[in-house]
Amino acid sequence: MKMILDLDTGIDDAFALAYAIAHPDIELIGVTGTYGNVTIEQGMANTRALLKLLGQPDIPVYAGVEIEGFVVSEASARIHGTNGVGEVNIATDNAESAGEAVDFLIESAAKYGEDLVVVPTGAQTTTAKALEKDEALRGIRMVTMGGALTVPGNVSPAAEANISQDPVSSNSVYQLAEDMTMVGLDVTMQTQLTRAEADSWRGTAAGDAFADMAGYYIDAYQENNPHMDGCALHDPLAVAVAVDPDLVDCLILPLQVDTEGPTVGRTIGRWDGSEVETRVAVGVDVDAFVPDFIDKLGQLFARLAQ
Ligand code: BDR
Ligand code: CA
Repeated sequence: MKMILDLDTGIDDAFALAYAIAHPDIELIGVTGTYGNVTIEQGMANTRALLKLLGQPDIPVYAGVEIEGFVVSEASARIHGTNGVGEVNIATDNAESAGEAVDFLIESAAKYGEDLVVVPTGAQTTTAKALEKDEALRGIRMVTMGGALTVPGNVSPAAEANISQDPVSSNSVYQLAEDMTMVGLDVTMQTQLTRAEADSWRGTAAGDAFADMAGYYIDAYQENNPHMDGCALHDPLAVAVAVDPDLVDCLILPLQVDTEGPTVGRTIGRWDGSEVETRVAVGVDVDAFVPDFIDKLGQLFARLAQ
């Protein structure tokens, strides 16, 4: 399958990128840059540097749309580091963008149709703009990391981080995308990576960099979620579900996002006439995903060192 990742690169975004590259069933045709953990500019520089580190320097990286007035939150800088990749020194790459993300999404939908899956794992501003502009994109399969239906949010009791960046755009996304699976905190908080598992990647340049990033992320998780024994694999789980939808059990709902008031950013089902329904993942086969993620990244790092 052809895949486009929309990343705010970010440590777990870096994991998602590596998993997509490592997966034999995925052809990553491009990455679009969004914001959240970092600015679009920093995220794109991180993506390009990671693509080089992972032996894929030719995968194009497109510039998405940032909401006016965006600043990286203190919490994001603490969780992902001020450079987004846990202060790990990956050679930054400030090359020019390959083009506009909205155009790339629309052109790819026309070119690949049902062979394409789009996986947004940051703020959904760019995805919304593209869906609003192009009807054909609305029928393309999408799997997004964003939201929390049956569990609390992670930036407020109601809101998950990606949705909280631009709830109006996310509301638009969930109401326009006709073939959408939401992989939110309901399931991503169940899929965890421990320090020992990440350390099993060590021994190569890429493996060391990813283990260092994971270590930084796990330290932040230990402060915020002391009951956990590692970090959550948010964004890579969305990639895995794109390949294997049976990894998750879903509720099917007309999903909306609260755009104002005390629950702003909440994802919620509302039967108020919308014909578009979203599959919302509420259960996950942890044992089918986590070991596969660890193995595939380990094998990729070993291959790159040969
Ligand atoms: C989501 O927010 C970002 O910080 C992560 O990369 C993930 O996409 C988790 O709420
Ligand atoms: Ca992300």
